[in-house]
Amino acid sequence: MDGPRRRVEAATRPLSSEHYHHGPARSLNPTPANSAPLWETLLHTLRLIHEVSSTVALLALGVVIPEARNWATSIGMGKNFDPERDIGSLEGKIVLVTGGNAGLGKQTIAYLSSHKPTRIYLAARTASKARDAIADIRSSVPHACEIIHLPLDLSSFSSIASAASTFQSRESRLDMLINNAGVMACPYGTTQEGYETQFGTNHMGHALLTKLLLPTLLETAKQPGADVRVISLSSIGHHLAPAGGIPFDQRALEQVNTWRRYGVSKLANILFARELASRYPQLTSVSVHPGLIFTDLYQSLRANFFLKIGIWIYGWLAMVLPGHYKDTRGGALNQVWCASARKEELKNGAFYTPVGKVNAGSKWARDEGLQKKLWEWTEGELEKHGY
Ligand SMILES: NC(=O)c1ccc[n+]([C@@H]2O[C@H](COP(=O)([O-])OP(=O)(O)OC[C@H]3O[C@@H](n4cnc5c(N)ncnc54)[C@H](OP(=O)(O)O)[C@@H]3O)[C@@H](O)[C@H]2O)c1
Repeated sequence: MDGPRRRVEAATRPLSSEHYHHGPARSLNPTPANSAPLWETLLHTLRLIHEVSSTVALLALGVVIPEARNWATSIGMGKNFDPERDIGSLEGKIVLVTGGNAGLGKQTIAYLSSHKPTRIYLAARTASKARDAIADIRSSVPHACEIIHLPLDLSSFSSIASAASTFQSRESRLDMLINNAGVMACPYGTTQEGYETQFGTNHMGHALLTKLLLPTLLETAKQPGADVRVISLSSIGHHLAPAGGIPFDQRALEQVNTWRRYGVSKLANILFARELASRYPQLTSVSVHPGLIFTDLYQSLRANFFLKIGIWIYGWLAMVLPGHYKDTRGGALNQVWCASARKEELKNGAFYTPVGKVNAGSKWARDEGLQKKLWEWTEGELEKHGY
């Protein structure tokens, strides 16, 4: 099994600089003995052209076209949102943000922390980064509320269960759960329980965390004046999911390009948020695309020479394209708007693009049958593992 498995992975892994090593030196007088390296070089070049062109084509189809359509149909509809001015008092609220030690999660905590919630739990797997992030937020937000690191690795069910029980041993309410953490375009691999890395981390991990925290969320929703929100970070990249939307057979994910796997995981985030809203209307559950912001999420792309140049060019364009932000201050706006806008302004279950614009999403994101199937399938999987 190892042989084919390795071959499939080689064909689908993200591009890296190792693909660009020069082939062996060519002889001017090829002989049968050295014609093999020549073929290898030719094959290597063809594979390289195929990988670069299919990645560019996929991204054009799944990100650039939906982004352009979204932009063209919603010019001027985005909210003018200034967190400093527009977030009301969060007094008495308990907030939990996953992936709070970097990127959009860290900025989300920075924005919310100055509006007096009782406490924010910064859930993160890397303790040193969590400590640094808390220190950074404290130095940039002078009156920040209490921020506590909650150890959480979304690629391990036991870590998720222990994060949920640590949280519940300390708090009896949860007003905002921001399922923000995520990985993108990583090589094929699996989480501890055997789910594909991106699907397992981005969808399964958050599904289990939400399930375990659900009793606390529902209890909070019963309190007078409560307004409980669950915000799930998705992406316009959900358009990259293959035909059919979600391949429930995890092994099928091994056969597709890493961008398609990311698309599946982000499609699952939208469907999960919609179904949560429909099953528990006493909560407000929405999903968001934050815009495009070059955070650590793009690390795997930077390893590839051509994509690195592409990112550099795009970085300049991003300064003028709507929905593209030069840093996390802009990138965190949509999720913070969804977390803090008046409840009446939000459509329960909807998918939002920046800032505060309802977006229909792809055909699969609107498929109610798939939405229910994903929920039931996920429940079945969690039950198999005893949750
Ligand atoms: N940036 C964009 O352009 C963009 C566009 C569309 C959607 N999004 C979505 O926005 C969300 C945040 O992305 P970002 O741009 O802020 O990326 P980022 O800077 O790479 O941050 C991702 C966060 O997720 C955490 N994380 C990853 N795997 C984890 C795991 N197994 N357990 C716990 N935490 C884990 C990371 O922790 P470590 O630091 O420990 O790795 C980090 O805190 C993601 O869900 C992403 O899909 C981003």
